[in-house]
Amino acid sequence: MEDTSFAIHPGKQKDVDVGSEILIGDLNSFKVSKQGYEFHCDNGYVVISFVDQEVVRIVMNLEQPLNDESSVAVIQEPQSIQAEVYEEKKVINLVTSYMEVTVQKSPFRVFIKDYKGELIVADHEKGMGYEVGGKVFCSKEADDDDQYYGFGEKSGFINKKGEVYTMWNSDVYAPHNPETDPLYQSIPFFMTLRNGQAHGIYFDNTFKTTFDMRTEESNEYCFSAEGGRLDYYVFIGPTPKEVLNQYTYLTGRMPLPPKWALGYHQSRYSYESEEEVRTLVSLFREKEIPLDAVHFDIHYMDEYRVFTFDYKRFPNPKRLVSDLKEQGVRSVPIVDPGVKVDSEYETYVEGITDDLFCKYIEGNLFFGDVWPGKSAFPDFAKTKTRSWWGRKHQFYTDLGIEGIWNDMNEPAVFNETKTMDVQVVHDQDGEKKTHRELHNVYGMLMGKATYEGLELLLDGKRPFLLTRAGFSGIQRYAAVWTGDNRSFWEHLEMAIPMCMNLGVSGVPFSGADVGGFAHDASGELLVRWTQLGVFTPYFRNHSAIHTARQEPWMFGKKYEESIKSFIQLRYKWLPYLYQQFKQASETGVPVMRPLFMEYPNDQKTYNLSDQFLVGDRVLVAPVLRPGATSRMVYLPKGDWFNYWNGDLYKGGKCIIVDAPLQVLPIFVKKGSIIPEANELQSTNDPVEHLTLHVYPSESKTTYSLYDDDGETFNYRGGEYFELELQTWYDRNQLHLVSNVINSCYKPNWSKIDIVVHGLSENTEVIYNKKKVAEINAKSNRFSVTGLV
Ligand code: GLC
Repeated sequence: MEDTSFAIHPGKQKDVDVGSEILIGDLNSFKVSKQGYEFHCDNGYVVISFVDQEVVRIVMNLEQPLNDESSVAVIQEPQSIQAEVYEEKKVINLVTSYMEVTVQKSPFRVFIKDYKGELIVADHEKGMGYEVGGKVFCSKEADDDDQYYGFGEKSGFINKKGEVYTMWNSDVYAPHNPETDPLYQSIPFFMTLRNGQAHGIYFDNTFKTTFDMRTEESNEYCFSAEGGRLDYYVFIGPTPKEVLNQYTYLTGRMPLPPKWALGYHQSRYSYESEEEVRTLVSLFREKEIPLDAVHFDIHYMDEYRVFTFDYKRFPNPKRLVSDLKEQGVRSVPIVDPGVKVDSEYETYVEGITDDLFCKYIEGNLFFGDVWPGKSAFPDFAKTKTRSWWGRKHQFYTDLGIEGIWNDMNEPAVFNETKTMDVQVVHDQDGEKKTHRELHNVYGMLMGKATYEGLELLLDGKRPFLLTRAGFSGIQRYAAVWTGDNRSFWEHLEMAIPMCMNLGVSGVPFSGADVGGFAHDASGELLVRWTQLGVFTPYFRNHSAIHTARQEPWMFGKKYEESIKSFIQLRYKWLPYLYQQFKQASETGVPVMRPLFMEYPNDQKTYNLSDQFLVGDRVLVAPVLRPGATSRMVYLPKGDWFNYWNGDLYKGGKCIIVDAPLQVLPIFVKKGSIIPEANELQSTNDPVEHLTLHVYPSESKTTYSLYDDDGETFNYRGGEYFELELQTWYDRNQLHLVSNVINSCYKPNWSKIDIVVHGLSENTEVIYNKKKVAEINAKSNRFSVTGLV
């Protein structure tokens, strides 16, 4: 070809200067517009606006101040909060009652101070800019004391200082190790903890983004995106919980799940026939192991066509679903996005006829191989596709199904790139956007379609959706499981920081496959993993085809007993967990919490990855090594009771605790009330006997006990029960004061016992100002009436 024009092909030029950085430059002019505070700089525009008192948004655009693009993640309409503007020679200050944003004019840089005047976010020398190839970036000053958390579903320990992360939803079957990145979810949000105070940054960009937190030498961290614009929000905290509150105000919160979704779920790739499922559920019931849901993996379908059943394997799904429901067990089928190419298959025909699938700009369809073979993929960016897909779930709801499991929605494709061609052009209701831009939100938009469809179809009942892929805001639609882990002790350990960081990233409802998905589990591993599962927000045992089966009884009686007792423990703790879910749905603060969240001034908590809090006062420290019968536990400041034997420890130090196979170390902080349900086989059984475990302290503890019907949205209209309980002790008197806040729903409890811990001397119990009992070393339990 050298004798053709190819000889002078421009690509042959060596030093093409693509990719060199252009910084935003100096400020040229400034004005206040309806968009916010608009800064015209040498090389682009920056708009600063206050979305809320504690949230500021910064957008850099090259050509015009702001083209108002829609955001998939952000649900909040900005409030127009005005700032006082003070212009000086070198700076412009924007001051609100909660923060101060200082804009340096030359070069243009942004500095954010909190309401106390403390500098929390500062542009580093480079500040913001872009590259000719389309990349946008922002570089910030890092402090030696900075600790970083969040970034969604990432492997490794909890503290992300020193790490570099990419956001690009990926189907990673193996390996999941500390350097495996990216995984299935993209949550471009993180929280910085600096000298005990927290703030957060959310980078609202759906392209492939990178966060470089290797701050130690450079004193800078940087976030960048392959395309789109620099558009980010700063949340000023100042506590970690407030940061989450602010972030989830912007991107939404988890709706309260149905109670059954909090029970124990059993899954396997796959239970391959109706008969197998029936036998499985009968075994659970025979062995009296609680169970709330069974998952149907891909084998239930007719050659993996979604919205079908293989009637040879599952002759009567309707009867099956209803028989299981009668036993308190829900059915959760898997639904993947790939639609089999088959002109005799209704879903495919509809998608083609109504133009609902992903296409190239030239109009030809994108096809990719997944379980059903050659498949087309719904274009979930289109409202029309989402409503169609949502409505298609009538196929399942007509059978009595209330929960769906979305998988392969990165989307996963069996090809070199593992996903859809980035050249595919989505049709976002008329706006054309490449897959390069929308890849990271594909799974979330599928989740939106599914959740909203189910919401309409279930007629007032709460849907349950489980998803593998997601983006910021996924919590509005789905619980997240951490994908294809393995039956390794290392993966048991890794599940803790992964779920904690999902919680720190606004996703409170998460869990890992209990027992590990791939590889063969052992009895001991399954016991220890089930122990962790009791306190992870989502609790499902799942394993892969060709691996050792890992239903609770698969490793013999000794292990079975132990596994059973821990699944039972989950059900005992359900009233407490449900209350925590309620709070998470209102505040965004996760159920499963890293310790730094409650103890932000305690440096020992900053990278504590192998123990966690459930709510604010229950500490769980799972055993993570084979053969271990004890472990070290860090107890933060305060007094802590060993849940099992009542031993009391002073916190602020590490202790070694005995943890033979039957023991999961759990500690309850002095000054707590923990409700406990009677034994249940599923959440279908009413909690008739509630026990309130009181761990009193001298100072007043307030606990709010919440309940509702557990399956409809009626609580939103006020049909719920809420009781506030206060307790404290004073010399030989234990005081309990109850105050019903709302009783529009009547719980099922017919018996309430109170068990007092930690007081062995003769103590009078004063309940609502009347003496009702006396407790001493022999008896610490009494019954009360009138609580409901
Ligand atoms: C994927 C999922 C896994 C599922 C399997 C078959 O690997 O992550 O959970 O069992 O596909 O559907």
